Amino acid sequence: MAFPVHRPRRLRRTATLRRLVAETRLSVDQLVYPLFITAGHGIQSEIGAMPGQFRWSLDRLGPELEQIAELGVPAVLFFGIPAEKDLAATGAWHDQGVVQQALRLCKQVAPDLLAVADTCLCEYTSHGHCGLLDDTGAVLNDPTLELLTRTAVAQAAAGADIIAPSDMMDGRIGAIRTALDAAGFDQVAILSYAAKYASAFYGPFREAADSAPAFGDRRGYQMDPPNRREALKEVLNDVAEGADLVMVKPALAYLDIIREVRNAVDLPLAAYQVSGEYSMVKAAAAAGWVDERRAALETLTSISRAGADILITYWAKDLCDWLR
Ligand code: PBG
Repeated sequence: MAFPVHRPRRLRRTATLRRLVAETRLSVDQLVYPLFITAGHGIQSEIGAMPGQFRWSLDRLGPELEQIAELGVPAVLFFGIPAEKDLAATGAWHDQGVVQQALRLCKQVAPDLLAVADTCLCEYTSHGHCGLLDDTGAVLNDPTLELLTRTAVAQAAAGADIIAPSDMMDGRIGAIRTALDAAGFDQVAILSYAAKYASAFYGPFREAADSAPAFGDRRGYQMDPPNRREALKEVLNDVAEGADLVMVKPALAYLDIIREVRNAVDLPLAAYQVSGEYSMVKAAAAAGWVDERRAALETLTSISRAGADILITYWAKDLCDWLR
């Protein structure tokens, strides 16, 4: 037989052929759009480190939620920037907290839009850590669980469909499941930030949410980037404690972890394409060095190909246009 026998290029000839044989397909149905809700009035302020993303005050949020629902994005993920921060993270668990108010609004103006609540204390503590501190400044695990469960119950009472704990305390999934059930919220699901790494790529988010730790870092609770087996252990623990969905975060630097988790667990798997992943592409695109749309689609395709079912991304709204 004449060389070459195989000509894989035959199937790459036209856009239609490539479309037919694509092994991975992105869909609007996979998307979750993060939103930053701030105290105050009349605010729609662009986040300097995240071009195209905004902080919204509650009085401006309604039309934005309606537009997201109209576009067909299935879910939003709420983060809060309270007027005041304190040692007890009051803004996180108070029934008048900004996220609780946003959840109630969401269920009014866009009842079918899934409301996911990020459950963590770092946006609400005066020191910016994700829990209560001891005298040495270390984050206390078990006392923090009490505030996290209180926060989760307040979010569920305000209408959250999904509670998403991002704090990385030990035992939080079991504690939150127990508290939700005891409060009558057995239908509220838990999306665990199961393997969340201490990452440089959260930088822009911390500007957006004003949640950079005042001292130290989060390495005492978030995972260390070299560890793969530990990620599986974290995920399996959370599954055993009652997680309904699990997440790997960040996404692009952890594609191997996404694949490992996909192979090990049958639950829906989310990946969070975090602020730094977004802002790097935005900055390079603004300089004319990469094409934003192609870079976004390529990275999200790789995250999906690695095994993620659900994509949490700041490009969710753009994707509704790009994938059409
Ligand atoms: C809260 C939280 C963070 C992010 C999501 N939830 C910040 C952090 O852990 O410091 C980061 C999201 C992003 O960078 O887009 N703990």
